[in-house]
Amino acid sequence: MTPPGLSLRGRHTAHLPGGTRAALRELLDLVYEGDFSSDDWDHALGGLHTLAWLDGRLVGHAALVGRAFLLGDTPRRVGYLEAMGVHPAAQRRGIGRAILRRVNLQVARGYDLGALSSSDEGLALYRAGGWAVWRGPLGVMTPGGIVPTPEEAGGVLVYAPAGNLNLTLPLTCDFRGGDVW
Ligand SMILES: CC(C)(COP(=O)(O)OP(=O)(O)OC[C@H]1O[C@@H](n2cnc3c(N)ncnc32)[C@H](O)[C@@H]1OP(=O)(O)O)[C@@H](O)C(=O)NCCC(=O)NCCS
Repeated sequence: MTPPGLSLRGRHTAHLPGGTRAALRELLDLVYEGDFSSDDWDHALGGLHTLAWLDGRLVGHAALVGRAFLLGDTPRRVGYLEAMGVHPAAQRRGIGRAILRRVNLQVARGYDLGALSSSDEGLALYRAGGWAVWRGPLGVMTPGGIVPTPEEAGGVLVYAPAGNLNLTLPLTCDFRGGDVW
């Protein structure tokens, strides 16, 4: 059950009003306790934001950003979940779950699969929301070739709307600054 009056809105980064963009940055700094880097912010831009509003205040957010992955040797269009967070005063009231339900629909309609790198805090939420831990080898496509990222094992989750994904294949993400997963 979500709090009465909660409203979820979807907006592409290009359509975020300046005030909302500033409120979002502020929310993420608060939620991640000052540990939300400029790379993290960069990773959250360029896709579809789900914004949760309560009594005129921004209380929750997730971004779904398009990335190009290799699943085994096959290119896949991936919706990558970034900057998921709920205001500390509004947590454990179903807002994260409501945001994730919306994101799952966005993945189903727009991408081959969803993926994310989970915090310890997010793991229960994602698993309950139908996401599964990737069990196969993980890597990243760098300018010098594919580099394994075994340190990410157990923290990368996927959402496969079609439900027929082999979770033991190699999964290789595209390259970017900051954390690649
Ligand atoms: C993770 C987060 C987004 C969850 O948002 P939320 O609105 O509190 O989540 P919900 O109230 O919808 O909870 C849904 C379920 O997720 C799980 N869950 C949520 N927060 C949890 C926590 N702190 N510890 C353990 N399980 C948790 C529970 O199963 C919960 O169901 P329950 O309350 O019936 O037990 C929020 O705690 C947060 O912003 N954390 C800090 C930032 C972060 O870690 N984001 C995830 C990055 S990958």
